[in-house]
Amino acid sequence: MTVIEELKAEHQAVLLTIRILEQITSKLENGQAIDSRHLDQILEFLQIFVDKCHHGKEEKVLFPAMEEVGIQVEGGPLGVMLYEHEQGRSFVQGLKIGVEGYRVGKVDAIAQIVENAQKYSRLLVAHIDKENDVLYVMAERVLSAEKMADIAKAFIRIEELEIGPNKHEEFHATLHALKDIYLA
Ligand SMILES: [Fe+2]
Ligand SMILES: [Fe+2]
Repeated sequence: MTVIEELKAEHQAVLLTIRILEQITSKLENGQAIDSRHLDQILEFLQIFVDKCHHGKEEKVLFPAMEEVGIQVEGGPLGVMLYEHEQGRSFVQGLKIGVEGYRVGKVDAIAQIVENAQKYSRLLVAHIDKENDVLYVMAERVLSAEKMADIAKAFIRIEELEIGPNKHEEFHATLHALKDIYLA
């Protein structure tokens, strides 16, 4: 798998998580109770797998490599991607507050979860499209095979640092268990 294929595969996992989260929020809106452990699992996935690991690979490795060969950050595509990562973080933070409230039965917790989940979903679906169709295509064009090999090594280090080998499998297993519950 090339580094770009690896990132695209991670996007697929992000999109699956978003579909699960959408099912959860529509159940909540319909007055159904949700196991708060499932919400915790989604949150952990969004914070660790999506943000620390996937966005970490982009922000710490891929984007700087593109910047090095002349792709603009300020006012350019990389700047937009970085800004959207920040927006995503604030929606995940809002979602977290909602989940904490839900656990203790706070009145506005469901509205808080739904609002932030919807904003996150809209943002990330569009963000992923832009990366898959524009930014990654650009990366494949401007980065040499040698640079791509360095990026692959740096990605392995981020995986080890942010997730660890067993945790990665655990994340995917959890995601598939949630998929069987909510998307069956
Ligand atoms: Fe991104
Ligand atoms: Fe991405």
